[in-house]
Amino acid sequence: MPLTRCTKYLRINPQVPEIHKIRLAARILARGGVVAFPTETVYGLGANALDARAVRRIFRAKGRPQDNPLIVHVANMEMVDDLVAEIPPIAGLLMERFWPGPLTLVLPKSDLVPPEVTAGLDTVGIRMPAHPVALALIKAARLPIAAPSANLSGRPSPTTGHHVLRDLHGRIDAVVDGGPASVGVESTVLDLTTPVPTILRPGGVTLEELQKILGRVELDPAVVSEAGHPRAPGMKYTHYAPQGNLFLVAGDTPKVAARINRLVKSFKAAGLRVGALLTVETAACYRPEIQPDYLEIIGSRNDLGTVAARLFAALHNCDRHRVQIILTETFPEKGLGLAIMNRLRKASAHRIIQA
Ligand code: TXA
Ligand code: MG
Repeated sequence: MPLTRCTKYLRINPQVPEIHKIRLAARILARGGVVAFPTETVYGLGANALDARAVRRIFRAKGRPQDNPLIVHVANMEMVDDLVAEIPPIAGLLMERFWPGPLTLVLPKSDLVPPEVTAGLDTVGIRMPAHPVALALIKAARLPIAAPSANLSGRPSPTTGHHVLRDLHGRIDAVVDGGPASVGVESTVLDLTTPVPTILRPGGVTLEELQKILGRVELDPAVVSEAGHPRAPGMKYTHYAPQGNLFLVAGDTPKVAARINRLVKSFKAAGLRVGALLTVETAACYRPEIQPDYLEIIGSRNDLGTVAARLFAALHNCDRHRVQIILTETFPEKGLGLAIMNRLRKASAHRIIQA
């Protein structure tokens, strides 16, 4: 099948999705096509998880490395039963508490799941998304849907239909546009096949929330540092990278604001286009001597939900403004801060400046 084709664009009501649009997208999926759709975390690029050929199209459209497994999205427990060899009791507890929602559980897979989905692993990542459009689509297709984030491999994840189109127009069959994603960072990937449940990727459900249910939870070392061999295959690749070079500036808010001011001046003096992504608190201390070419307020340090929701869109905006240098701050690695910092570390290739 040729890679370039006409991408159907379907604008949909995110709360009450129009059924004829859902059916149209579901038919494309049932015929082996690839369709981008909104979830509460980020947009996914979906295909029938039980059809190896359809799944291979996802990898081709994204330019995704073959050894990086996909998350399978379900709309009910019957689908889960078909996909896994067994459901351990703690998995049942977690599903009850966090599904539908931003939690992916890694479980032993059943024979029904093709190796293309799991990149040959004997486990499968499963999640039930909490978005009316995603749930309606999976139900209408009556199929579990394999879906990575709907971006070209290595790029920031898409949180709007337009982000999807910018990366994948002409490479996929359709995009269902349900407006901006509310969570803004991807799901937490939790491995339940290890003796102690292990977070392979921090996300929308926090470590602290999981600890309340599970007691002990481990963090894969690759989550918080460059060192170590990540167990989620996807965590080892370049990720979330905007076109400009991103630098993180760490320290007390007034010092960060002052340091960003000096950095803007020196990068601009070197003839570069510079963007600054600041929280309201840092912006309040920021007295720019020279304005950056692009400035965006990305939420409040006291409400990391706002920062998570805007983070990827802010990186996309920097690309749109063609900035070559992006400066932003760091966050305490607690609550959603763990997922935000994980994405920022990767997007910045671990370039952190102490203010
Ligand atoms: O929120 C999300 O999870 C979004 C939306 C679309 O649901 N999806 C998403 O998929 O972020 P993707 O492919 O961009 O990231 C999936 C991550 C990768 O790091 C992958 O390696 C890991 O989950 N993963 C998937 N299946 C796995 C498995 N069986 N064992 C270990 N890691 C797995
Ligand atoms: Mg991704």
